[in-house]
Amino acid sequence: MKIAVLVSGGGTNLQAIIDSIDNGHLTNVSIEVVIASNANAFALERAKNHGIASLVITRKAYETMEAYDEAMLGAITSSGAELVVMAGFLSLLGPKVVQKYANRILNIHPALIPSFCGKGMYGIRPHEAVLARGVKVSGATVHLVNEFYDEGPILLQKAVDVLPNDTPETLQKRIMKECEQVILPQAIQCMADNKVVIENNLAKIVD
Ligand code: GRF
Repeated sequence: MKIAVLVSGGGTNLQAIIDSIDNGHLTNVSIEVVIASNANAFALERAKNHGIASLVITRKAYETMEAYDEAMLGAITSSGAELVVMAGFLSLLGPKVVQKYANRILNIHPALIPSFCGKGMYGIRPHEAVLARGVKVSGATVHLVNEFYDEGPILLQKAVDVLPNDTPETLQKRIMKECEQVILPQAIQCMADNKVVIENNLAKIVD
């Protein structure tokens, strides 16, 4: 399966996909393009170091959401990608991309949806909110993407305990390593193996 990976920041999730392909844990999957929402994303360095084509498409460079949506759609379709993976991508995708790739867009969210998600809940914020509320477990979620933030069918989740001496930073680091970098490659494999069934906004993994 050919995939396009969308990024905005450090790219630890992109690296986890690259490493999983290299070590054979992720099979029949190739990264055709990495698209960044800003030119300073370190994820672009990771793509370059691995000889993967990349480009930058920033929302601000376009006068309208339509023009941005059109540009993103053009970049993804011309790469030949069959699956779109939002790996730490912080921009909302436009309706054209969401419709063209309906049920073929994955997003990783650093909390257990439906808790601590939605507009503005990204980066360190979910972890700050988790500690502020005093919940005892947190984790990450891979979901299919629709036109609303974090509301698509949930595909995979993985939890960790919140430790008494956790800070937002220590919790974020543990969730990235023990949850995100584990379930995102697994979710891509399920899509590549055509093992995902979606009914009534619910996703099931079938054998
Ligand atoms: C990750 O926790 C991701 O879930 C969130 O931003 C963080 C950075 O991701 N959206 P990455 O290192 O850029 O993959």
